Amino acid sequence: MKFKENSSQFKKLRTCLLLTWGVVSACPFHCVCRNLSESLSTLCADKGLLFVPPHVDRRTVELRLADNFITEVGGNDFVNMTGLVDLTLSRNTIHLIRPMAFADLESLRSLHLDGNRLTILGPRDLAGLVNLQHLIVNNNQLIKVSVQAFDDFLLTLEDLDLSYNNLRRVPWESIQNMASLHTLNLDHNLIDHIAEGVFGELYKLARLDMTSNRLRTLPPDPLFTGAISPTPYNAVISLNFGGNPLHCNCELLWLRRLIRGDDMETCATPAHLAGRYFWSIPEEEFTCEPPLITRHTHKLWVLEGQRATLKCRAIGDPEPVVHWVSPDDRIIANSSRTSSFSNGTLDILVTVARDDGAYTCIAINAAGEATATVDLKIIPLPHRGGNAGSNSVEIGDKSGGTTLSLSGQEEESSILQRCRAFPVWLPIMLSVS
Ligand SMILES: *[C@@H]1O[C@H](CO)[C@@H](O)[C@H](O)[C@H]1NC(C)=O
Ligand SMILES: *[C@@H]1O[C@H](CO)[C@@H](O)[C@H](O)[C@H]1NC(C)=O
Ligand SMILES: *[C@@H]1O[C@H](CO)[C@@H](O)[C@H](O)[C@H]1NC(C)=O
Ligand SMILES: *[C@@H]1O[C@H](CO)[C@@H](O)[C@H](O)[C@H]1NC(C)=O
Repeated sequence: MKFKENSSQFKKLRTCLLLTWGVVSACPFHCVCRNLSESLSTLCADKGLLFVPPHVDRRTVELRLADNFITEVGGNDFVNMTGLVDLTLSRNTIHLIRPMAFADLESLRSLHLDGNRLTILGPRDLAGLVNLQHLIVNNNQLIKVSVQAFDDFLLTLEDLDLSYNNLRRVPWESIQNMASLHTLNLDHNLIDHIAEGVFGELYKLARLDMTSNRLRTLPPDPLFTGAISPTPYNAVISLNFGGNPLHCNCELLWLRRLIRGDDMETCATPAHLAGRYFWSIPEEEFTCEPPLITRHTHKLWVLEGQRATLKCRAIGDPEPVVHWVSPDDRIIANSSRTSSFSNGTLDILVTVARDDGAYTCIAINAAGEATATVDLKIIPLPHRGGNAGSNSVEIGDKSGGTTLSLSGQEEESSILQRCRAFPVWLPIMLSVS
């Protein structure tokens, strides 16, 4: 069925080419081609096309393909169109851009891909567009935009529209380098984070729309300061961030302190401020709670070589970040042997004797910090083939010291339980104590 349709379309196309030859060298079936003031426009909007017509004149400067049923672009679709300036693919059903699809479009200034079904912008999907100024990809189903997707036009892009997609994150690391950016539309996505300082060098930015995302907070940024309290040095910037679940605590006080009042932003949390207009809440109600450590491991005995899990639970507003400091006073980072989770758990996967000591968990947030100490005792294993003396002497020295300090304490039973996992050593340890 589809094939038949296509082949009859081709037949018509050929006839059409023969008939119109001489007016403009090649104009795809149903399309209108105009050669005005020496620049060729190929107008194929709303023609029921299922693919980009293959016989588009390669010299065309404007190509309109909106409102068709094109499902993918790439291959030879735009090959050799080095003079194309304007390409409109709006409102098709495009779900796939083949990598390098636009690689020859070195003159392209404007690319409209809005109203399609794209889910991903891959690293090479937009490669080669070295003069692109307007990239319009709103109303798709984007869930991911590669960090490299915009690399070829970071310095020329003036207008980027990614609104009405399903983006949780956008590549802030490339957006922050778009020195010519004038308009950035990211509204109606699922974005929950704006990287701090991204707008610092976007001197030309005049419009930023972040409406209806999932932002709980905004990082302090000179851009916002300028947008909200314009100075002679700061052009007026249009800034919208309504429809976000703002968490109105001390972290947003900087924003509240700026003079404004025209907008309808409301707070989502904390509970007592929910639904109230951001700009009507008095400054002193934007408060934070310093961290409070509610639960933590106090003392942990672990056999050398076994895993040690140290826990530290903290509450506060904003949610505290927990760091661990080792007995030799160093912040513990992730490594092959240790994992420090944001929920306050520290995992030492395979303990060694030198892990023994007092660990400190530090919970930090914007309002302050709290600390707790956890004692980790490593019970050394008897080492075989020790370098000093015979085995039995070494065992006696090490385990003897440890167990001696234990005698009479309640932890002893738990040690014995752990030792049962090591039946080979158990008799030796018992005989030592
Ligand atoms: C458009 O017209 C100019 C002359 O006005 C001619 O030189 C050029 O080849 C034409 N282009 C096409 C694609 O027909
Ligand atoms: C593109 O240009 C190259 C070199 O001029 C030519 O060999 C090739 O056939 C052209 N391809 C298309 C699809 O026009
Ligand atoms: C360590 O890795 C985990 C995930 O494996 C991550 O959640 C955590 O933030 C990392 N911790 C640090 C301190 O980088
Ligand atoms: C903390 O997170 C880690 C990794 O996600 C998990 O294994 C551990 O059970 C968590 N601890 C607590 C106390 O929730």
